[in-house]
Amino acid sequence: MIAASELIERKRNGEELAADELRELVLAYVREDVPDYQMAAFCMAVWFRGLTPAETHALTEAMVASGDTIDLSGLGRRVVDKHSTGGVGDKASLVIGPVVAACGVPFAKMSGRGLGHTGGTLDKLESIPGLTIELSDEDFVRQVRDVGMAIVGQTADLVPADKRLYALRDVTATVDQVSLIASSIMSKKIAAGADAIVLDVKVGDGAFMKTLEAARELAEAMVDLGREAGREVVCELTDMDQPLGHAVGNALEIREAVETLQGTGPADLHELVLSAASHLLALSDLGVDAVEGRRRAEDAIASGEAHAAYERWIRAQGGDPSLDALPTAPIVREVPSPDEGHIQAIATTALGLASLHLGAGRATKDASIDHAVGVVCRAKRGDRVARGEPLAIVHARDEHAADRAVPELTRCFRIGPEAPAPRPIVLDVVR
Ligand code: URA
Repeated sequence: MIAASELIERKRNGEELAADELRELVLAYVREDVPDYQMAAFCMAVWFRGLTPAETHALTEAMVASGDTIDLSGLGRRVVDKHSTGGVGDKASLVIGPVVAACGVPFAKMSGRGLGHTGGTLDKLESIPGLTIELSDEDFVRQVRDVGMAIVGQTADLVPADKRLYALRDVTATVDQVSLIASSIMSKKIAAGADAIVLDVKVGDGAFMKTLEAARELAEAMVDLGREAGREVVCELTDMDQPLGHAVGNALEIREAVETLQGTGPADLHELVLSAASHLLALSDLGVDAVEGRRRAEDAIASGEAHAAYERWIRAQGGDPSLDALPTAPIVREVPSPDEGHIQAIATTALGLASLHLGAGRATKDASIDHAVGVVCRAKRGDRVARGEPLAIVHARDEHAADRAVPELTRCFRIGPEAPAPRPIVLDVVR
C-alpha cells in the first residue's frame, strides 16, 4: 500500500520525489486507493514547492500510463495536432484544422469543453445540428485517414488521471501551477498520438497565464515534455488581453470561423490561423519551411479549398455545415458606448463571464449550454468609438438576460482619450 501521507510530507518539505513514487501515487489515485483529500493536499504541496523537470516528466508519464493511448502510426504519415491553453472567443482550431487538412496534412485533435470563463471547442462544435463529437478510437483514426481531419471529444479511457485530477484542482485552488498545467495538457496530447503539436499559450487578462514570463515558463516546460516523449512541439505565446476575433459564444463563433475560412474573418484571427498553420505545415512531412507553409495556408483560404475541407469534415461527423442551420438567439441588443474615445483595455475574463451568464457556458459542471447566445465584441483595443456607438452586440434568450448583460458588458470596456500602443497577436514563439 502506498504511503501517500509520507509523499505529501516530503513534497511539502521541498524534497524531490522519485519517478516510481510519483507513478505509484497517480496510479493509486486513479484506482481510488488514494482519496481525494490526500491528492488535494499533494497538489497544494506542489503548488507551493513546484516540481523539478524530472518530477514533471515522471508525473506526465504516469498520467499517460493511467489509460489508453491512440496509435496513429498506421496512417503512415506525420500527423499534427494543435491545442490552446484556453481563452475568450478562441475558435482558432475550427479554422486551423481545415486549413492544414486542405494542404494535405493529417490533423487529429481531441478537444475539451469550456472551463470557467473560457469556451471549449467541443461546445462550439455541438452548435452544429447533427454533429457528433463522440467517435470510437477506430473511427477517429479512419476519419483522419479518409477525410484528412477529425476533432472529437476525449474518450473516457484517455488519461483518466487527468480527468480526476483536473476536477480536483479546479475546486482546490491548484489549477494555476506550471508543472500541473504542463503535465495535464501534454499527457493528453501525447496519449492522443500526434507526432507534432503546435501549442497556443494564451497570455493576458482572459488567460490562465497573466504575464509573458509565466507563459514562457509554461511553454518551455511543455516543449521539454514533448521532446522527452519523442514529439516535436512549437509553442506560440498569443495575446489574450482581448477576445480573439469578435464573436464569443458557440454558434456565433462557428459563424466567424467559417467567415475566416472564406477569407472574410477578423484580422487577428486570420493572422493567428496563418501563423499556427505555417508552423504545423513546417512540422509535417511535406518538407516545407514555415514561409512556404504560410504561403500554402494563404492559398488554401483564397482558393476555397480550406472551406471545402471544413464542409467535408463537418459532414463526416454528421453535421450540417450550412450557416443557415446554426441556431440564432431571439433577442439581439446593442451595448452603446457611454463615452467617446479609444478603447484602451477590455476586461476579457469579465466579457467571457458575461457570455457565460447569458447561457453560452456552464455555471456548474453539469449545466446545459444555450448554443445560440453570446456576445459580438464590435469594438477592439485601439478602436475609436463615438458616444452611443455599439461596443458590443448581445445575443440573448430573453429580454431579462439582455437587460442584465448590457451593463455587465459596458463595464468591460475602458475608454480614454489616448489609443494604447498596438500589440501583435503572436507575442513570441518557443521551440
Ligand atoms: N488546460 C488543461 O487541459 N489543463 C490544465 O491544467 C489547464 C488548462
